[in-house]
Amino acid sequence: GKGLAVFTSGGDSQGMNAAVRSVVRMGIYLGCKVYFIREGYQGMVDGGDNIEEANWSSVSSIIHKGGTIIGSARCMDFIQKEGRLKAACNLVTRGITNLVVIGGDGSLTGANLFRQEWSDLLDELLAHNRITKDQREKYKYLHIAGLVGSIDNDFCGTDMTIGTDSALHRIIEAIDAIVSTAYSHQRTFIMEVMGRHCGYLALVTALSSEADFVFIPEAPPAVDWRDKLCYNYLALVAALASEADQVFIPEDPVPHNWVEKLCKRLQQERKSGQRLNIIIVAEGAIDREGKPITAELVKKVVVDNLQQDTRITVLGHVQRGGSPSAFDRILGCRMGAEAVMALMEATPETEPCVVSLDGNQAVRLPLMECVRRTKAVAQAMTDKNWELAVQLRGRS
Ligand code: F6P
Repeated sequence: GKGLAVFTSGGDSQGMNAAVRSVVRMGIYLGCKVYFIREGYQGMVDGGDNIEEANWSSVSSIIHKGGTIIGSARCMDFIQKEGRLKAACNLVTRGITNLVVIGGDGSLTGANLFRQEWSDLLDELLAHNRITKDQREKYKYLHIAGLVGSIDNDFCGTDMTIGTDSALHRIIEAIDAIVSTAYSHQRTFIMEVMGRHCGYLALVTALSSEADFVFIPEAPPAVDWRDKLCYNYLALVAALASEADQVFIPEDPVPHNWVEKLCKRLQQERKSGQRLNIIIVAEGAIDREGKPITAELVKKVVVDNLQQDTRITVLGHVQRGGSPSAFDRILGCRMGAEAVMALMEATPETEPCVVSLDGNQAVRLPLMECVRRTKAVAQAMTDKNWELAVQLRGRS
């Protein structure tokens, strides 16, 4: 059977184990020899026990576990040519020419570069007698399929990355818990959520928790979710959820003073009898000059202007932990199976793909095009071109 290996790389996320399980079982089902590579690219470079053959039962009882049972790491050795030579040698000597990489855009880019270099790496290994002529010929093609595992939902091409839904569950649970204590003391709570440079977690959290205000990186200086939203389809959801009379979308953002708007909103809510306020701050939130809007800064504004009793909760890595939601388990399973199918159908000309969710369909998209778009979003945000960033990111 064909040699196939699966590894997880970069930050872990809930649902990665479901994907690993699915790759192993689908691979075995289709007659492949399936391997785990432990500790991401580092395990590929180090070889030895890090690359281990998997069997049907080695992935039993993992679907409900958070994180990744095969470990993940950020690997400096893989950046060096010698590291990649070692990695290629470890794969060839085990007959592995199919890789499923589960990670974010950095991990997927690494896999694509490795594939582009594959032929040269094998030539060099042969020249130094680290592999045989037969091996050079037999394993001359490397096939790659990527799955996006990240809580941030920051990858272009897929509606949902594996882990986002579970992170949202975790965040919402925490907010619901905060609300009861905030209510009792008539307090304002500022909750910082993860997402790196992407405001998806913060925005969806705000919508589903009836937050009063949300700060996200995409539409600075601030988004009052009942007033202006940066994702068109979420604008509609917001209108429905909030009974807003009107929803503005950000194609033409109106410059405004976020301090004033925030204070007005919080005051209004208290005057109408509300005992608490919730403000969501994405960890990457920025103002129009690109300066961070931190939870501390928002707290200072609220305390200085309104003298409200205010507390901050930074959820941190709690968001990445715990068991995966049903959605992420199924998503991981579906994506994993599709990745194996893609590899088994690949011809020497087939470009690496990333398996994505489009509506309710698992689709295969060109990996590098998606990575390029994801990087273009980051660049657009650095250039403060928020409209372009939102447009490039697409539906979600
Ligand atoms: O990409 C996932 C993520 O959890 C981000 O939301 C966050 O910014 C980052 O990783 C934290 O990284 P680390 O686990 O290295 O602290």
